[in-house]
Amino acid sequence: MSIDVFHKKPKNNEKLALVTCYDASFAALIEDSDIDAVLVGDSLAMVIYGKPDTTYATMNMMTAHTQAVRSRLKSKFLISDMPFLSYRKGLRQSVENAAQLIQAGANAIKLEGADGNLEIISHLVESGIPVMGHLGLTPQFIHTFGGWKVQGKQEEAKQKILNDALALEKAGCFSLVLECVPSQLATTIQKELKIPCIGIGAGSEVAGQILVLQDLLGIQTDIKPKFVKRYVEGASIVQESLASYCQEVRKKSFPSSKESYQ
Ligand code: KIV
Repeated sequence: MSIDVFHKKPKNNEKLALVTCYDASFAALIEDSDIDAVLVGDSLAMVIYGKPDTTYATMNMMTAHTQAVRSRLKSKFLISDMPFLSYRKGLRQSVENAAQLIQAGANAIKLEGADGNLEIISHLVESGIPVMGHLGLTPQFIHTFGGWKVQGKQEEAKQKILNDALALEKAGCFSLVLECVPSQLATTIQKELKIPCIGIGAGSEVAGQILVLQDLLGIQTDIKPKFVKRYVEGASIVQESLASYCQEVRKKSFPSSKESYQ
């Protein structure tokens, strides 16, 4: 699946369904699913590495996990997050970092915010690297926001996010993630833009949705933001399986002759 899916599906009034992925085993399952595109999100700093926020993601982490996902995600469009500050160190360093993710197997990169990023976005797009924008609750700004808060509630903040969205489109972004903004604002932004907006906590009137895989599988249970829907209680399934395994090992019913070499 190529970047065309981001043009074709919205044109046909079909919603785009995206998900995050960080490893090869889940990538193999996603490869055989209806998912339109995959994000190696910098949320891996929290989900995989147990860090308190995404500012802990590094280029080494993003590169390694992009390679792992690409090893089993053969046909789907893959986007990788540029980690914290990796696109704020001058044009040359930013281009080198973006190139590293593309060479690791990504088809596009995502970066957060508009202020100070428009030049690098245009440059990457002109150089053949598709760029996805990200506005609203941009997690790399957690220390500026002072917590995980819905963004764009006040008139001035709404206008700022709308103006930033228009600027990102003009700079050449092929799509835009809108995270944790009121649904009405997301609807307005989608109507004003030609590029598809992908929502996470942004209501249903955008071109598509994205969720963190471990959230939708119910594997991550310590936090549950309002926008998360669990499609399965994955944590219970894992706990029950581990309990059965422990019990059988202790009863010596595992391994049976079926799992033993004669
Ligand atoms: O890092 C991430 O997982 C993301 C999505 C939540 C959009 O940026």
